[in-house]
Amino acid sequence: MNENRRGFMGKAFGAVAAVGGVASLYAMKKSWDPLPSVKAAGFTTLDMTVYKEDELVVEKWRGKPIFVLKKTAEMVAKQTDADKERDIVVNGSHYMVAIGLCTHLGCIPAYRKDRQDFLCACHGGEYDFSGVVTKAPPPRALDVPPFKIDGNKLVLGEIGPEYQAMKDNQVTL
Ligand code: FES
Repeated sequence: MNENRRGFMGKAFGAVAAVGGVASLYAMKKSWDPLPSVKAAGFTTLDMTVYKEDELVVEKWRGKPIFVLKKTAEMVAKQTDADKERDIVVNGSHYMVAIGLCTHLGCIPAYRKDRQDFLCACHGGEYDFSGVVTKAPPPRALDVPPFKIDGNKLVLGEIGPEYQAMKDNQVTL
């Protein structure tokens, strides 16, 4: 009887300990996971319907400035092949979306609306309206942030097939 009782107690204690162990593992995992706000901070969702043609808007993603420029029909018509590779089309509208940091030494280039291009005042580097270098010293085009097209929205921080194609074709780093 005593043996049975001890056996039962032992099993019961073991079961409680196991449940407790799972619970504390769960609690530990929860404390290791990033907070929801930190997870959300990795993504920026842009509603692409709010932008106006030929007006540069500077958004923010992971603390970096993000240039968003909706192209006019004239801009689209005169795009070079290099521009076309970087063109982001959302619901029939064409956009330049790029990290707004000069690829030379990281200054923020300014959009010159009258010339529809970018000038980096630090060392005189220039980019066209798609972010392609037109004047050294920048070593490469403005980097394109990871993006995924989702209806009318662009989710920065997610990798969609269009972004993957740019990476595969070495259009962006
Ligand atoms: Fe832009 Fe040098 S940092 S040209």
